[in-house]
Amino acid sequence: MSKPKVAVLISGSGTNLQALLDAAGSNDYPAHVTLVISNRPDAYGLVRAQQAGVETVVIDHKSFKSRADFDAALDRCLRARDIDIICLAGFMRLLTPDFVRAWDGRMLNIHPSLLPAFKGLYVQQRAIDAGARFSGCTVHLVTPEMDEGPIVVQAVVPVLDGDTADTLAARIQVQEHRAYPLALRLVAEGRVRIDGPRTHIADALASGDGMMNPMG
Ligand code: GAR
Repeated sequence: MSKPKVAVLISGSGTNLQALLDAAGSNDYPAHVTLVISNRPDAYGLVRAQQAGVETVVIDHKSFKSRADFDAALDRCLRARDIDIICLAGFMRLLTPDFVRAWDGRMLNIHPSLLPAFKGLYVQQRAIDAGARFSGCTVHLVTPEMDEGPIVVQAVVPVLDGDTADTLAARIQVQEHRAYPLALRLVAEGRVRIDGPRTHIADALASGDGMMNPMG
């Protein structure tokens, strides 16, 4: 069977894109990244894609009258290239419910908090301000409501004394770069079954131990 074709949608630096490109560069990875779309012409992730020899397309949201028009252009681009799975990786545009429904079960997003806590923006600062002892990242299937949808993978990091939004974001990103390739692998291998608000992962290895912060 041929590997599913993946489009990664970005708006910025694209470190998660890089993690997906690196993973997909290996022969035994079960998906191909064949397309990178940015809504911003200056996104550094476009350079990363070009360096990896992957096709890039800029669909600038500023040249469309409405969200629906922008999403229709996105959809045409994806279908013209027979894309099977979409990965949102720092793609900072809300998508219309019609678009989301059209890609139901085939679109992943990564978010830098342990959802359902801290949806939206400025999530690292909000986790610090709330006094959370742990934060992390979530890779989930996309549903029409922002930062909701069945969770595929989460990774946890401690919040440390003296953390700023930047130091916490950097710690979370290290885990993002592990979690996203894993989540895409699970979806591409057909091991993710959606069951209402949750997923069941076939043959999942769960880490056994709990974590405490502080440790003593
Ligand atoms: C990532 O930390 C990702 O979790 C976040 O944007 C960053 C993009 O970084 N996404 C969101 O906040 C979406 N709600 P990258 O361009 O280096 O991958």
